Amino acid sequence: MKIDEKYYRTIWPIPGAPAPKNEATFTVGIIDQTRLPHQFKVLELATMHEMGFAITNMQVRGAPLIGAAAAYGLALAVQSDPSDEHIKRAAQTLINTRPTAVNLQWAINRMQNRIKGVPIEGRQQVAWQEAALICEEDVQINRAIGQHGLKLIEQACAKNKKNTFNILTHCNAGWLATVDWGTALSPIYMAHDAGMNIHVWVDETRPRNQGASLTAWELGQHGIPHTVISDNAGGHLMQHGQVDMVLVGADRVTSKGDICNKIGTYLKALAAFDNLVPFYAAVPSPTIDWSIKDGLADIEIEMRPADEVSYISGLADDGQVKSIRLTPQHSHAINPAFDVTPARLVTGIITERGVTLPDQLKQLFN
Ligand code: MRU
Repeated sequence: MKIDEKYYRTIWPIPGAPAPKNEATFTVGIIDQTRLPHQFKVLELATMHEMGFAITNMQVRGAPLIGAAAAYGLALAVQSDPSDEHIKRAAQTLINTRPTAVNLQWAINRMQNRIKGVPIEGRQQVAWQEAALICEEDVQINRAIGQHGLKLIEQACAKNKKNTFNILTHCNAGWLATVDWGTALSPIYMAHDAGMNIHVWVDETRPRNQGASLTAWELGQHGIPHTVISDNAGGHLMQHGQVDMVLVGADRVTSKGDICNKIGTYLKALAAFDNLVPFYAAVPSPTIDWSIKDGLADIEIEMRPADEVSYISGLADDGQVKSIRLTPQHSHAINPAFDVTPARLVTGIITERGVTLPDQLKQLFN
């Protein structure tokens, strides 16, 4: 995606000086998402621990990008010490950074499977290659999701015959949440580029405001008309016929099609169901956890620091980004970061293989 006419991905290897035996070495570039939308800052990460910190503190975030970041984190670990013992410890450290998005575990497993059996001296090169391949595949998958989702939007548009097609999205499932394209926003970019009249309702997505700060910024960079709304406004807009489709991403999807996504998604699905608004989730295959069926029983929901609820940050009049307290000093707060939308509320799942009913997800991948 382009930022001020320059092409970026959200993560990339940066070549360094060759090591003593002439192996190529790398650091990893990321866009610090905690600074957006007010500052665009690139960070260069040199160790697995720096990558772990970046994931935990959400400098990189979004399920597919977390997977890619974990893969590069493991490559950094292999670069510093390719022994089995060190790789095992590094894998566990990275897995512990965030529990809900299954892409993280998936990427670490894939990296470990690829590295095991490779002689010590060849591991570094293989690790960097595999991490790059994971990123490449992510871009291809999201492009395919965009193409399938575009057809869906075209069909829905043809039926509703309004001038503008209004899509509501929650959190950030755009290119910032992936290596490129995004999941839920990929069809939106393609529909806009195809000349369709798309307008996006952007849920602010408390407490970290990924919608207000990241989705709005991304859509703005691409020139897509959008309006930021408070998280509570979606139901009202649906009741008044102002939402034609809800399109969200996912952090973990079960084999029967339950969708775990950013906290608040479930409420949007309920409102969509009540108002007969189609509710779609855009889901790359690495986000599907085939080992579980029941999203409510089987998915660990990340509990993040309560301060993310008690405080809010933004650009003050003096041009400084500041964090201010919202709640009374002694009020207790909790911060579950995800919720589960049961498959029965989901109209369809958009994957790289096509669009399916939730209960036919398995058949699509067989
Ligand atoms: O906590 P985050 O910002 O890492 O949450 C992930 C998300 O952005 C969303 O849940 C998203 O819709 C799925 S990732 C494409």
